[in-house]
Amino acid sequence: MPLDDLDKWVEELQKEINEEAVKRYNEYIVELLQNPKNWGKPKSHEISVWHAYEGPCGDTMHFFLKIENDIIEKANFITDGCGATVAAGSQTTMMIEGKPLEFAESLKPIDIDNALGGLPDDHKHCGELAIRTLIHAIEKYKFQNISKDP
Ligand code: FES
Repeated sequence: MPLDDLDKWVEELQKEINEEAVKRYNEYIVELLQNPKNWGKPKSHEISVWHAYEGPCGDTMHFFLKIENDIIEKANFITDGCGATVAAGSQTTMMIEGKPLEFAESLKPIDIDNALGGLPDDHKHCGELAIRTLIHAIEKYKFQNISKDP
């Protein structure tokens, strides 16, 4: 999906939030579905690394990180995945902003699941998509920096 279409997609997703979602997800997850945090691609000067990762379910998440002195100053995401993925991306970015890379690297899918108050069993992998994207983004950032060294 082209990036320009993603904002439209999230609007449509929000419209689709209905009683079904309330039955499926807890109140906190529904709140993040309706009001995603840190959604969207920042301006280029606010991006140190951008990584897209496609999960086994076929959905993709993009992470945009602004990193200074090994601290994640800003974290944003977009995804064409399900509602649980929007909540997982929101939660993950909230948990890593202002934190050292080491902390972000130590996060596991269960930490996101717990922070969200429990994803439904058939959506546990959505938290994993967020963490895998994050870890790959950090690896890419480190590789870029090694490559820049003289
Ligand atoms: Fe694919 Fe949630 S990320 S179903």
